[in-house]
Order: sequence, then C-alpha cells, then structure tokens
Amino acid sequence: MEAAPAPFLASLVNELERHPVNSNAFFETFHVRVLTRAQLRTFVRQYHYFCKHFVKLLEGLLYRTPVEQVDMRSELIKTLHSELGSGNPQRAHIRLLNKFAKSLDLDEVDLDRTVPIPEVVAYLGLLHRLFIESDHLTALGAEMAVEVTAGSEFRYLYPGLRQYSAFNEDELLFFKLHLNEEQCHSAWLIDAVQRTARTRDEYDRVAAGARETADGWQQFWSGLYREVFESAGLRRE
Ligand SMILES: [Fe+2]
Repeated sequence: MEAAPAPFLASLVNELERHPVNSNAFFETFHVRVLTRAQLRTFVRQYHYFCKHFVKLLEGLLYRTPVEQVDMRSELIKTLHSELGSGNPQRAHIRLLNKFAKSLDLDEVDLDRTVPIPEVVAYLGLLHRLFIESDHLTALGAEMAVEVTAGSEFRYLYPGLRQYSAFNEDELLFFKLHLNEEQCHSAWLIDAVQRTARTRDEYDRVAAGARETADGWQQFWSGLYREVFESAGLRRE
C-alpha cells in the first residue's frame, strides 16, 4: 500500500485539478456545439501533431532521467508502455488516433503535412525545455502536471464526439480509452513525485515545473479555440 501523498504534494495535485485549463472554453464549446467537418479536421490535425511529438518528448525525458532515479524511471516506463498500447502495438495511442483521423479522411501522409499553430509549437517547446533541458525534478513536475490535467479533456471530447453519427465506437476508441488511462498515468506520476522529491527545495522545483506546464497547456487550448472556432476551422484546410 502506498503512503498518502505528503501535504505539499496533495495540495499541488489539488491546485492542478482546479486549474482553469480543466474546463477551458475549447472543451466547453467542443462538448456542446456541433462542429463542421472542416472544424473537426482542423482540431484533429493540431491535436495529432501534439500527440505525435509528445510521446517522443516523454521518451526523451526517460533518457534524460538520471540512472539512479529508479522510482521515477519506473513510473515513466509504465506511462510509455501504456502510450504504446501496453504490449499490443495495434492499441498504441497514436495508431488509435490515426484511426479517428482516417474517419475524417486524413491519412498519415495528410497528417504529416500539418502546419502547427504557434500555440502548439510553443507548448511543445515548453515541454522540450522542461523535460529535456531542466533538472529531473522540474521535469518530473512538468510530466505530473501533464498527466493530472490530461483526464479533463476526455470528459469533454469523448461525449462531444459521440454526438456525431459519422463516428463508430472503434473510431472513438482513442478518446474512450483515455477516460480511464489518464487516471492511471496521473496516479503513477503522483507516486513518482512522492518517491523522488524529498526536501522542500526539491518539492519547489517539482511545483515550478508543474505550474508552468499547466499554464502552457491552457495557452495550447486557447490557440485551438481560435483556430477551430474563431477561424471557422477553415484556414488550414
Ligand atoms: Fe495517450
């Protein structure tokens, strides 16, 4: 049985769960509005671009984590294993997302031609700096924030997408599966922080990485909102 999170960690997790990114305007609007096909294609292009690069950044984080940080590496490996389908390559998350994109007539060649919007580039740059160029505690805080805040999007995106008769359950599996998977990832990363950060200074570095990441994630969705809802999703189509 794992020990309860230290008060500092419990309060940081609570802060991340209450961060405004968890109920941002993109999620709320996507949930209730019927999007045009062009808007859905714009959304999936940008989101796929992010997901495809994110998993490589996570691999980079694992490589950069000092060898003696076994607890942290162990939890990162579990998260990566899950991202890659938990031993079943057909269930690798990027393949499931490709399947959804295919239902909008976007194949991998089309997706490779996506031009990311500035906010997607900025968020990937932020994660690169925190995961790859920072100390392992700042990086760990950043990755914990990614996983703690990731669950929210699926509570809006999956029900939102179920409104469309055009998509079957198999095509929506990426979104459905993340409702549960993100809870595991989140628990694993919280556990990694608990077993890795020991002093107040170390916790402060975790918190700094976490807060910067949650704020960056909010900017990411603001950009998506503008691109999908204010540009009518047409500019990059
Ligand atoms: Fe995933």
